[in-house]
Amino acid sequence: MSLLTIEGLRVTYATSSGPLAAVRGVDLTLDAGEVLGLAGESGCGKSTVATSVLRLLPSSAEVSGRIELAGENVLEMTWGQLRRVRWADASMVFQGALHSLNPVQRVDRQVAEPIVLHERVSAAQARSRARALLGQVGIPESRAADYPHQLSGGQRQRVMIAMALACNPKVLIADEPTTALDVMVQAQILALLTELVRERGLGLIIISHDLSVLGTQCDRVAVMYAGKVVESGPARSVFDSARHPYSAGLSAVFPTIGQAQSRYRPEGVPGDPPDLTEQIVGCAFAPRCARASAECTATEPPLDTVGPHEVACFHPLDGTR
Ligand SMILES: Nc1ncnc2c1ncn2[C@@H]1O[C@H](COP(=O)(O)OP(=O)(O)O)[C@@H](O)[C@H]1O
Ligand code: SF4
Ligand SMILES: [Mg+2]
Repeated sequence: MSLLTIEGLRVTYATSSGPLAAVRGVDLTLDAGEVLGLAGESGCGKSTVATSVLRLLPSSAEVSGRIELAGENVLEMTWGQLRRVRWADASMVFQGALHSLNPVQRVDRQVAEPIVLHERVSAAQARSRARALLGQVGIPESRAADYPHQLSGGQRQRVMIAMALACNPKVLIADEPTTALDVMVQAQILALLTELVRERGLGLIIISHDLSVLGTQCDRVAVMYAGKVVESGPARSVFDSARHPYSAGLSAVFPTIGQAQSRYRPEGVPGDPPDLTEQIVGCAFAPRCARASAECTATEPPLDTVGPHEVACFHPLDGTR
């Protein structure tokens, strides 16, 4: 059985320009010990999917579909059930650890906090577990009682990972966990995350706009465009031999790890994503696609099996670069 199953997820935000369809029917599964990458340009709905899993969406969001975590539908849980699930069943590592950590509290205390809140242990026991966790993510004993500003960006992100692991979650979601870090530190943090997953048999979702990073670190990758999954498959294969023209453009943008400067407008994919407050007819990628035909603008392509991938495209590529 999967740790996490997302079926028919739709999320619409109420905005001043009208309803904005951020996620338009997404299906995903995650197994124990598996690392799933979620890729796509800024604005394609990755964070909305992630925050839906823990129901951390703002009240302006209308959600439908099914998100099954540890056998229960997250979307039907009471607040009491949700409180139990957060941290203990699933937890999240966000981008920008500097802003998420409390600047006036020592990091070992911050890591101990969810343990005290969720488990019947003394403050001293929680503190000692926090220190052990910090050790596992590479923060030495001598730095465990530092304040966040005394640590480097990479170390702060390690603290965030320790905090997310504090209550032994089964599912960990890392939303652009390394975007703010330099290339060397990025690679170390991602290696740490994937190692922890293998050791503890967790399920991990790594979100990134950088398909090359996901291609090397994940087992499977799902590429999102305009609120839908347009391609998924074995990670290396999606990166090396994309079948959807959008994924192929994304993998051309990041030939090597890093290159955060092209995050917002990948030059491999000219043009902009569609306005999600407008009704989308046909393939959402058609206005930017060199292969678009009349069929593409009239009908929405369904997800279909193409080689080892699932692809939503009427004219998929043959997988050679
Ligand atoms: N709180 C919100 N209110 C209104 N629109 C939002 C909100 N959060 C995200 N959006 C919109 O939803 C779409 C998807 O955003 P997001 O999930 O953050 O994408 P990504 O993480 O892939 O960059 C974007 O068009 C974004 O502007
Ligand atoms: S369905 Fe058509 S427009 Fe959409 S990606 Fe495929 S070829 Fe391009
Ligand atoms: Mg995001």
